[in-house]
Amino acid sequence: MHPFDPRGDFGFYLPMIMAADAVLDVGCGAGLLLHTARERGHRGRLVGLDPAPGMLAQARLRPNVEWRQGDLATTPFHEEFDLVVMTGHAFQVFLTDQEIHQALTAIRAALTLTGRFAFETRNPLVQGWRQWTPEHGRTFVADGVEIRAEHRVQRVEGEFVHFTNTFSSAAWERPEVSRSTLRFISADDLGSALAEAGLEIERQFGDWDSGPLTDGSPEIITVVRPG
Ligand SMILES: C[S@@+](CC[C@H](N)C(=O)[O-])C[C@H]1O[C@@H](n2cnc3c(N)ncnc32)[C@H](O)[C@@H]1O
Repeated sequence: MHPFDPRGDFGFYLPMIMAADAVLDVGCGAGLLLHTARERGHRGRLVGLDPAPGMLAQARLRPNVEWRQGDLATTPFHEEFDLVVMTGHAFQVFLTDQEIHQALTAIRAALTLTGRFAFETRNPLVQGWRQWTPEHGRTFVADGVEIRAEHRVQRVEGEFVHFTNTFSSAAWERPEVSRSTLRFISADDLGSALAEAGLEIERQFGDWDSGPLTDGSPEIITVVRPG
């Protein structure tokens, strides 16, 4: 893994973004990916979409991208993008089959006829959530304050992992705790959902080095096109 890309995924997504005229990042978070593309000289349309006001506030500190607060239901697009991405496992926020279908249908509508959608979801077969323990937490500095972030899994129900995120700091009175649920969809079910939404798998990988998808791969990385 390259030091400029500690998560491993920028090396995969950035070349695709740089090669596309118009790009939509769904669940863009604080917007680092599109900002990096702009910094590296992307001259086309870059749109970041995220429903979380706190995330968008961070993203808007970088004004060189079109930031939109909302989701695919509130913010529909029509044949506008050569590339749509969902990174950082944002796709796993879609919990029900209906949510996945609505999202994929909206993404298909947002793509030009020759467009691509690229995204990843964690492979459920490797049960990566078993590593989501306080010992595997991370410490980072924000606004000069050292913060510790820890996951704790509450329960696993089939494909659904319910967990807490705890952020704590010696500078704060008490920790901040939020609850989340993510879906770990299987590669087969994902394939069916993509087909039902009229999307065809073009390429699929199991890791950020473009290794094949196997039962032991950490990721299900997929690039699709309108079928
Ligand atoms: C784990 S973060 C990933 C952020 C960023 N893509 C990255 O790679 O760092 C997941 C993001 O998905 C966003 N999100 C949650 N529900 C969403 C929805 N229904 N549609 C789009 N994004 C959503 C969250 O606000 C959050 O910013």
